[in-house]
Amino acid sequence: MLYGNPHLTGVERTFDENEIIVTKTDLAGKITYGNDTFYKMAGFSEKESLGKQHNIIRHPEMPRAAFKLVWDTLAAGEEVFAYVNNRSKNGDHYWVFAHITPSFDTSGKLVGYHSSRRKPNRSLIEEKIIPLYKDLLAVEKAASSPKEGMENAVQAVLDLLDQTGMGFNELMLSLGR
Ligand SMILES: Cc1cc2nc3c(=O)[nH]c(=O)nc-3n(C[C@H](O)[C@H](O)[C@H](O)COP(=O)(O)O)c2cc1C
Repeated sequence: MLYGNPHLTGVERTFDENEIIVTKTDLAGKITYGNDTFYKMAGFSEKESLGKQHNIIRHPEMPRAAFKLVWDTLAAGEEVFAYVNNRSKNGDHYWVFAHITPSFDTSGKLVGYHSSRRKPNRSLIEEKIIPLYKDLLAVEKAASSPKEGMENAVQAVLDLLDQTGMGFNELMLSLGR
């Protein structure tokens, strides 16, 4: 595992509104494709990325619950939208608005996943997403085990959705890009 207590520089990387960061994975989340914008932002070369788990760019301040919700939605064969903070190889970080979809072959069999990420709205990240993820991370850290922490944080998100009457994707999209 490359993370745990990874080095962070505190430097935020940004990308252009016209750029899209793209990766594809197999069913296990191993990277099978990245575009040049991905390699530029992640700081990992194609050679360093292909065949590796996508968590090579996991940021330690991302709540586990966010990824759990992403994977559960994908496993149900549905698309999912999510705001994600990523850690570049050198410890810089970059925020994205990701749209992740399941890929099917012609017989309808699930064969992998595809993520396209746009530059997110700065004030939305500052005002809504950073505080939300901070709260979820605190819920996770307060529990006696990582598993229990993640379950509590997932429940916190489900409670929030209950209050708003929206589904996860609906809430993500309602926040604006
Ligand atoms: C298509 C696809 C793209 C993903 N992109 C990212 C990403 O950019 N950053 C990230 O931290 N996790 C991404 N993930 C989720 C990772 O697979 C993983 O669940 C996450 O990094 C948490 O790591 P962990 O499960 O080891 O805690 C992606 C998963 C899929 C299927």
